Amino acid sequence: MIEGCRITGRYYSRRNRVFQAEMPQGEAGVQCLVIKEFTTAAAAQREYSNLLQLAAAGVTVPTPLGLEGRRLYLQHLEGVLLADILEKDLVSSELWTKALAGWYARLHAQTAPGDSNALLKTDNNLRNFIFREGLFYGLDFELLSPGDPARDLGQICAFILADRPSFTPGKLAAASGLIRHYRCLNNLPVSRIREEIIRELERMAERRREESSSIKSFLGSCQGKINLFS
Ligand SMILES: Nc1ncnc2c1ncn2[C@@H]1O[C@H](COP(=O)(O)OP(=O)(O)O)[C@@H](O)[C@H]1O
Ligand SMILES: [Mg+2]
Repeated sequence: MIEGCRITGRYYSRRNRVFQAEMPQGEAGVQCLVIKEFTTAAAAQREYSNLLQLAAAGVTVPTPLGLEGRRLYLQHLEGVLLADILEKDLVSSELWTKALAGWYARLHAQTAPGDSNALLKTDNNLRNFIFREGLFYGLDFELLSPGDPARDLGQICAFILADRPSFTPGKLAAASGLIRHYRCLNNLPVSRIREEIIRELERMAERRREESSSIKSFLGSCQGKINLFS
């Protein structure tokens, strides 16, 4: 642990251990930071390199401050998680969907070395995005892989739609707005995005036992023709 660093809190995390911490900063006070403790040093190293690569490409992510074995030190971002924006209706849907579309379009403009495919986020859950001063910052970059951007978009839309209370008109409008804004920047075929939403919802229905019937009934009611793109 960096000398003088003091743990002040812990974040919700399934895979790793993620802490909020403070570092003394001269006479001025303290600097707030985040310590992410991975299960292996290789995973910490991967996320560190991915963050440096993304920051250099202008994708908004927390600045990596240091790496120490399995521990990664990150700039603390004061903002609201996408999960909380949805739950508490904290930001206008028009504003956040446009900002998130911009974040994805910037990421997808990057290609992996030696591969013409776009770089994908791949882990698109609602706790992996923080909104701050009108911009989204992506979190959690253990894995970046090349592929079809429709996969990222379909996955995040599925998470938005299935967020409880799920499949409300507001959720449908948000997913629809996100796709509309994204397609202004990168004109993906709607059919591909729809396929990926359905694929992710089907996976969720398998994973989330207690929500399985509501997800399946949504999929059944629209019979694969989710009307998200008006
Ligand atoms: N730089 C950061 N600034 C503020 N909060 C953060 C930051 N990094 C992570 N968090 C918080 O910690 C949680 C878990 O971090 P994340 O990188 O997604 O790890 P995990 O792989 O365990 O999901 C996030 O959902 C967020 O609430
Ligand atoms: Mg995460």
